[in-house]
This record gives sequence, structure tokens and C-alpha cells, in this order.
Amino acid sequence: MTNVAVVGLGIMGRGMAANLAANGHEVAVWNRTPGRVPGLAEAASPAQAAAGAEVVFEVTADDASSRQVWFGAEGILAGVRPGTVVISSATLSVGWVAELAAACAERGLTFFDMPVTGGAEGARTGNLVMLVGGDPGRLTELDGVLRAIARQVRHFGPVGAGTRFKLVLNALQAVHFAAFGEALKMAVAAGLDPRQVGEALVERPGGVVTGLAWNSLLTPPEPINFSAEWARKDLAYAQRMAGEGGHPILDAVLSIFSRAVEEGHGKDDWSVVNRQDGVPVA
Ligand SMILES: NC(=O)c1ccc[n+]([C@@H]2O[C@H](COP(=O)([O-])OP(=O)(O)OC[C@H]3O[C@@H](n4cnc5c(N)ncnc54)[C@H](OP(=O)(O)O)[C@@H]3O)[C@@H](O)[C@H]2O)c1
Repeated sequence: MTNVAVVGLGIMGRGMAANLAANGHEVAVWNRTPGRVPGLAEAASPAQAAAGAEVVFEVTADDASSRQVWFGAEGILAGVRPGTVVISSATLSVGWVAELAAACAERGLTFFDMPVTGGAEGARTGNLVMLVGGDPGRLTELDGVLRAIARQVRHFGPVGAGTRFKLVLNALQAVHFAAFGEALKMAVAAGLDPRQVGEALVERPGGVVTGLAWNSLLTPPEPINFSAEWARKDLAYAQRMAGEGGHPILDAVLSIFSRAVEEGHGKDDWSVVNRQDGVPVA
């Protein structure tokens, strides 16, 4: 049994906290908006949640929210004890992860960037894949904790490497998502039946993401799986990581997601980009 804190109980954090508790760990939680997850006793602040923890997970939204919950007056760093293992499982920018890791090292904390993949379903069922940057020697200490939330732990290198991989992955997935909508429009304009086309496409290479895109057109997920605003955020961070020029597909898909957010769809499931502009469903 390990004392674990989870800061951020959104779509991902709430599943992680529930699975940690269900696997016998002592879990302290904090969320900006209290009472989002019935039945969980919430600490008064991130500092308080972190104070008794051996392992702290932060799973908020973006760089700004992450900065707030780590560095705020009542933030994680104000409460955590030296020697604690501290983890961010949000998808963040490379620059912010480096800054956070340095602040943690100064305080004698062991930091891992550990963004996740597996979606809402993976978080709910304890089947996430953890994408890890940090000291591999210390990672094995986390086996018992990670077993409660993940089916796989993939180590990519030093601190920041998990984030770098996650941004590459999400850029590829978003490109595929948006391309699927365009393909379906093309197919229908060419006289094909959208249902036949969708069902045939999910069996082709890349079918897993196509399957997600297709299913979300047939049945828009409610509650949502992943918001358009965080998909846009990940693409913006990926573009920042990639640097100027040479990534026209990434640039185009970022502008598609940006437009959806600007038009007020930020809180909708990211499949909203395929439910606009007349993408057809039978
Ligand atoms: N959903 C997915 O499929 C998925 C998959 C892999 C990775 N991720 C990543 O995981 C992270 C969480 O995603 P999610 O889908 O769980 O998002 P979400 O449901 O929108 O939850 C966001 C969480 O961040 C908190 N938050 C937002 N702004 C804050 C602020 N300024 N200060 C403190 N807390 C703040 C929210 O608190 P409130 O409840 O008060 O709003 C909530 O707990 C993101 O980095 C996302 O990119 C998501």
C-alpha cells in the first residue's frame, strides 16, 4: 500500500484515483471544482493532498493549470515532503516540463513526466499506457502504484522524453482524425455510401484511430472522451516542439482544431471537427 495523491479529477484523473483506491492504495485527492466525483473525500488544497503522499500525480489540463497547482500559494510544492516521487500525467509543453522538473530537483523530489494514452476508457478501467521520462532506476519503485492504473509502462529517456513522445503521438492521431472526416466527405461526394465506406475503412491500416473517428460520428460520445480544446493544445505544443516550417500537415490540422475551439466547441469531444462542415453519416 502506498500513500498517493491525485491532483485533478477530470476525465482522466478521476479514473486514475478510483483505480488506485480500488487496488488498496491510500488516496488523497484535490480538484479545483469540489464535488465533481461523488464519494471521494477531497483535501482542501493541492498542498494538503500532497503533504502525506509518497507519490503525487498531477493530472490537470495544460501548462497554465499545471503551474497553478504546483506553484500556487497552496500548491503541491508548498506541501510535499522531500524525497517524494512527483509525477505529471497531464500533456504539457516541453518547456514547462523542463521548468517543473528543475524546480522539483531543487527541492529533493524525484520527478517523472508521465503523460498517458488510453483515453477515458483506459483511465476508467486501469488500462492506460504510461509514457515516461525520468530516471529508469527509480521507476521500478513505482511498479505497485502503476499496476493499478496502467497496462503498460513505456520509458522513453530522461525527463521530458515521455512528453516529447506524447506530443508526436497526439499530432499523428489528430492528423488521422481530421483526415478521416475529409476522406468520408470525398467518398460521399464521389457517390459512395458513408456507412459502407466507414465500416470498410476501419479495417484498413490505421484502423484504430479511424475506428474512433467513425464511432464518434455514429454516436457522439456523451460524456465526452477528449476535448477539442486539449487536442488543440497538444497540437500547439507539438508545433512549438517541432519548430518553424516543414510540417504542413500538422499546421493544417492545428488550424482545423483552432477554428473549432474559436467557434465555441472547445469543451466538445474532439470528434466535433468531423461533425462540422457537412461530414456525412448515413
Ligand atoms: N481525455 C483523454 O482522452 C486524454 C487522454 C490522454 C491524455 N489526456 C490529457 O490529460 C490531461 C487531463 O485531461 P482530461 O481529459 O481529464 O481533461 P478534463 O476532463 O477537462 O479535466 C481537466 C482537469 O484540470 C483541472 N483544471 C483545469 N484548469 C485548472 C486550473 N486553472 N487550476 C486547477 N485545475 C484546473 C480541471 O478542474 P475542474 O474540474 O475544476 O474544471 C480538471 O480536474 C490533459 O493534459 C489532457 O491533454 C487526456
